[in-house]
Amino acid sequence: MSKLSHYDDIFHDAVKKIKEENRYRVFTTLNYLKDLFPIAYAPTLNKDVVVWCSNNYLGMSQHPDVIKSLCETAQTVGVSAGGTRNISGTHGAVDELERELADLHRKEKALVFTSGYIANQSAISAIGKIIPDCVIFSDSNNHASIIHGIRESKLQKEIFRHNDMTHLRELIGKYPLSKPKLIIFESIYSMSGTVAPFQEIVALAQEFNAMTYIDEVHAVGMYGTEGQGMASVYGCDKDIDIIQGTLGKAYGVIGGYITGKSIIVDAIRSIAPGFIFTTTLPPCIAAAATASIKHLRSSKDERLKHQEIVMRTKTFLLEADIQIINNDTHIIPVLIGDAELSRMISITLLEKFNIYIQNINFPTVPKGRERLRITPTPLHTEKMLEELVFALKYLLKPKQ
Ligand SMILES: Cc1ncc(COP(=O)(O)O)c(C=O)c1O
Repeated sequence: MSKLSHYDDIFHDAVKKIKEENRYRVFTTLNYLKDLFPIAYAPTLNKDVVVWCSNNYLGMSQHPDVIKSLCETAQTVGVSAGGTRNISGTHGAVDELERELADLHRKEKALVFTSGYIANQSAISAIGKIIPDCVIFSDSNNHASIIHGIRESKLQKEIFRHNDMTHLRELIGKYPLSKPKLIIFESIYSMSGTVAPFQEIVALAQEFNAMTYIDEVHAVGMYGTEGQGMASVYGCDKDIDIIQGTLGKAYGVIGGYITGKSIIVDAIRSIAPGFIFTTTLPPCIAAAATASIKHLRSSKDERLKHQEIVMRTKTFLLEADIQIINNDTHIIPVLIGDAELSRMISITLLEKFNIYIQNINFPTVPKGRERLRITPTPLHTEKMLEELVFALKYLLKPKQ
């Protein structure tokens, strides 16, 4: 056997195993046109489809202010940041974005990363180097980027059952007050739409002398008076030491960040490899993100329309006897509970009903909890909603 074919076999086996476990992902090419979102053209099917699972939650990716800012900055300064901030300097647009983020969250400082994933992975692993005797308390449903960061931090960890404060108390109570501790949780859990018990977590952190780190990726831009996230809705943002967020979902651009006290951000900035050794976010992207944040701080319109369509979608689905995981947020999971069935429903929705909803299977959700994850936007119309409910009702009705 030649050397190359031997290696090929190993990769073939890896893909085969993934296919056998129904975990093989097939991407659908969708070409969005800015004035038509959430409609996209699917070239492989040669037709338009309505997308019901985008994380461009508010349609800000298509907002004229955001596009204008991106284009003008690119025309003026070029596209790339040209390197890391240490080596190539920091563009003013990136400085401005960090000032805007710190101001949004009422924190002293912000630090931007190239994505929300890198922000979590890099900041949490850096904390491991800064406080090597810290114990991490992590919600069992925390995102892969948090898990990656915890693993790299090499810190001792305790996993508490999802949103279970009795379990968190039990675990945290084992350690002396003097032991450094960090509680890491999300404000809105991406696959179930459940919301963290903010006040209880903040109270436990106070009682047991722990720092707190929150991932607000699915909440920034969307909740709070200016889109500053869920922690602010519960009046807890000032009590949380590090707030992490993304610029890639409700803000419609790309990038991630942390905010907190200057000294915390400064230490992470000085240590996190995922910040130090990679090219900075392009200035045109930073400018577009700043435009998006500024817009959503001053305009409630998108949030109000969004909340309205989310309510209507939930009501319509429930009235049609479609089983959803009910929650207080914009994430609407329709539970299917079988990997092959959820894949087939997703394919049929696309091919027969011109509706795109990617099915969510293991390992993103546990086996047996497979689902469709619906995320309405303010740009979905009543007609689109009626068509969605009709299609789901047809596909989910018990077969004789
Ligand atoms: C909870 C959570 N945190 C972090 C991320 C990563 O954010 P980004 O897409 O900006 O990398 C995601 C992505 O979906 C997420 O769901």
